[in-house]
Amino acid sequence: MPLLDIRNVTRRFGDFTAVDGVSLAIEAGEFFTLLGPSGCGKTTLLRMIAGFDLPDAGQILLDGVDLAATPPERRPVRTVFQSYALFPHMTVHGNVAFPLQMAGTPARDIPGKVAAALEDVRLTGFDRRYPHELSGGQKQRVAIARALVTHPTMLLLDEPLAALDAKLREELQIELIHLQREAGITFVYVTHDQTEALALSHRIAVMNKGKVEQLDEPSVIYRFPRSRFVADFIGQCNLFSGPIRANAAGAVTLDVEGLGAVKVAAQTALAAGAPASIALRPEQIRIGAGDAAAPADNRYEGTVADLLYMGDVTVYRVNTAGGARVEALLANSQTGRAKFFEPGDRVVVDWPAAAGHFIED
Ligand SMILES: Nc1ncnc2c1ncn2[C@@H]1O[C@H](COP(=O)(O)OP(=O)(O)O)[C@@H](O)[C@H]1O
Ligand SMILES: [Mg+2]
Repeated sequence: MPLLDIRNVTRRFGDFTAVDGVSLAIEAGEFFTLLGPSGCGKTTLLRMIAGFDLPDAGQILLDGVDLAATPPERRPVRTVFQSYALFPHMTVHGNVAFPLQMAGTPARDIPGKVAAALEDVRLTGFDRRYPHELSGGQKQRVAIARALVTHPTMLLLDEPLAALDAKLREELQIELIHLQREAGITFVYVTHDQTEALALSHRIAVMNKGKVEQLDEPSVIYRFPRSRFVADFIGQCNLFSGPIRANAAGAVTLDVEGLGAVKVAAQTALAAGAPASIALRPEQIRIGAGDAAAPADNRYEGTVADLLYMGDVTVYRVNTAGGARVEALLANSQTGRAKFFEPGDRVVVDWPAAAGHFIED
């Protein structure tokens, strides 16, 4: 039995459906992420798990028990918000001790529990500080310590790192991974940042317009996006669309405007003429000066339109002779890599049929 079972949950505001028949099951000990663009219903779903809001239809079960009649303070669930929500007039100690006091923990047990929680978030010695004496990252650590101090079954985190700068965010991401593993507490994490979701999660539910579009492990979401929306939302992706020209022996060929025939390894029941797409990650594409004689399943001539140097990698945007745009990514550290391409250079892009991922439209 899953720890948290969300069954067909819907939440409407007036005639707008914010969460639309969502079903998903979260196992004990998981780092589970709800990922999607702003407004897709992530916070609304999280608020219903916490009990701050109730579904209009469907059920949320914890350990097999329907939570509908359990008020938020009686659910074994704590929430960490982007805004920290610390009590400004209380010290770090006071903030972390607060939920213990609310739970009626004997006073003599409180200092030890607070100290342990502060140690978990690497804030030993910060007890006497006030929130305004802390950095953003430290404030969020206090908020996490306060949420963990009562050992909830489940921690809900709503974009907890969104207000921090990139370097600090990465540091805290690594800490969260360790913390979740060591505390053994189930995390339900909300983010609109696909990189963060891929880095942190055991499993990801990609949401769009109140619905779950795909629920899988990060590597599956990345390599085998089920829909055009997921392919587009998760990292950079080339999306080639067009009618099927041929479908035989595990290979499908699409007619793509500006490219012509594009071949992908795929099994599908779709017949010629049906619309379909191919998702192709930029790092799967080879880009060369055109001297390599090696034949490829897909090979197109083009011109470098522009490039994005990102230090470790460079993204090349190539306009093909037919007028299509292809994005290819090359590692700059690649051994034997002698040449960088410049805008205006004539190049050849190619990739094997197995590199693409077929999507039924
Ligand atoms: N209390 C509310 N009243 C009316 N509309 C709401 C309310 N809460 C959320 N919404 C709407 O529901 C949609 C989903 O919101 P939310 O769950 O906050 O999205 P996310 O967290 O994914 O950005 C948004 O369009 C939002 O405006
Ligand atoms: Mg939100």
